[in-house]
Amino acid sequence: MRHILIAAALAGCVGQGGVQGDTGPNPASDFAENCAACHGAGGRGDGAAGAGLSPKPADLTGLAARNGGVFPTTRVMAYIWRGEGAAAHRAMPAFVGLMEGALVPYDGGDGIETPTPERLVALAEYLKGVQN
Ligand code: HEC
Repeated sequence: MRHILIAAALAGCVGQGGVQGDTGPNPASDFAENCAACHGAGGRGDGAAGAGLSPKPADLTGLAARNGGVFPTTRVMAYIWRGEGAAAHRAMPAFVGLMEGALVPYDGGDGIETPTPERLVALAEYLKGVQN
């Protein structure tokens, strides 16, 4: 009986994202908190807060498809950081939080690593994982 209780407790931890630990980035919750309102829970550009925007929030599951099949990681990170032309993004101070915390060496594809906020890298990798 005791073993079953312990197993259940462990399963509960995993279910809540306990695998990632308390200190590492949690891109799924970063996306849910900062992006889903406009881009939708699944990133398809169908969030309620984006309904009245023009242009409409982009379908983030098609980023690679719209870029010749290659996920544009560096552009995505730059977009989150500065907005890259999107007034909607520049107007979101919450994104500043994604720049805080530890830096990790990141190679954007040219073989040169540069220190980059780990939450920003994790969020871009998360989006890479939901491509069509
Ligand atoms: C206030 C609404 C809003 C929020 C919140 C928001 N976005 Fe956007 N986003 C937009 C709109 C509108 C566009 C399309 C306009 C444009 O590209 O300039 C866009 C475009 C983008 C693009 C460019 C897509 C492309 O095809 O190049 C990326 C990448 C992106 N958003 C990522 C994110 C991420 C990641 C977050 C959360 C950190 C986020 N957005 C939060 C409204 C929002």
